[in-house]
Amino acid sequence: MWFKSLRADIAAAKKNDPAARNKLEILLTYSGVHALSHHRFANFLYRIHLRLLARMVSQCSKFFTGIEIHPAAKIYPGVFIDHGSGVVIGETAEIHTGTVIYQGATLGGTGKEHGKRHPTLMENVTVSAGAKILGGFVVGEGAKIGAGAVVLKEVPPHATVVGVPGRVVRVRGEKVCEPDLCQDKTDPYLDARKELCNLRTRVCELEKKLETLSAACASGPVSPAEGAGAPAPEPARGEESAWAPGAEEEEKRA
Ligand SMILES: CC(C)(COP(=O)(O)OP(=O)(O)OC[C@H]1O[C@@H](n2cnc3c(N)ncnc32)[C@H](O)[C@@H]1OP(=O)(O)O)[C@@H](O)C(=O)NCCC(=O)NCCS
Repeated sequence: MWFKSLRADIAAAKKNDPAARNKLEILLTYSGVHALSHHRFANFLYRIHLRLLARMVSQCSKFFTGIEIHPAAKIYPGVFIDHGSGVVIGETAEIHTGTVIYQGATLGGTGKEHGKRHPTLMENVTVSAGAKILGGFVVGEGAKIGAGAVVLKEVPPHATVVGVPGRVVRVRGEKVCEPDLCQDKTDPYLDARKELCNLRTRVCELEKKLETLSAACASGPVSPAEGAGAPAPEPARGEESAWAPGAEEEEKRA
């Protein structure tokens, strides 16, 4: 079991780090891989109620790798901690396969909760350098947490969260403009940002309509429904005077 997890962790490092040359190099030099294998041992000790020993293993590992993982944290095989210095993973955190965590990341609590107070990261989550995920919520599968972000509430799957407090800026690579996903409900500029988002959405809609109309104009005559609000059609040959601006006035003068 321990070897199986180690192999999965090495494979995850190879997959996620373009600088990794071979498995032996990863085994010998990657502190993230070392910290995870120490953690699996500490976690075993913790589960058989040798909790002081488990904490001692965890602290020794922190001394050598710079990565602090509570022995009770649940970490599945195939997780990659890159560089690692300053990573802190709390007691009730849960990390699923395929997750990548960079240096300085914290999976912590807000200090206000009891029980499950650290996050659960589903499969293939990326936690960038210096990001803080604080609280006992779920970060959905495939989500990306930007460098330096502070995430305080649940993250939908495949979302990108950036900033302080964290806000969702992409879902599956598509830009989102949803102020309700902003994580700070006390933000004094929230109303202004909502209004800005609504305006942006409206501009996007209008741009799309304009594109459709331009395409329709270019490809042939426009139906009244399509042409509502569109520029006047080109006059047919021989009708030019009827369409020309100021033509009526010229006729009167004549
Ligand atoms: C978040 C991240 C993973 C990119 O995710 P992505 O889904 O590809 O998102 P994008 O690059 O398209 O960026 C989305 C938006 O967030 C902004 N953004 C990206 N990262 C950000 C960050 N850390 N802080 C604030 N804003 C950020 C982008 O400017 C972009 O803004 P826009 O909507 O105005 O264009 C990446 O930017 C990041 O933070 N990487 C750090 C990885 C790391 O820790 N490396 C350390 C290696 S040693």
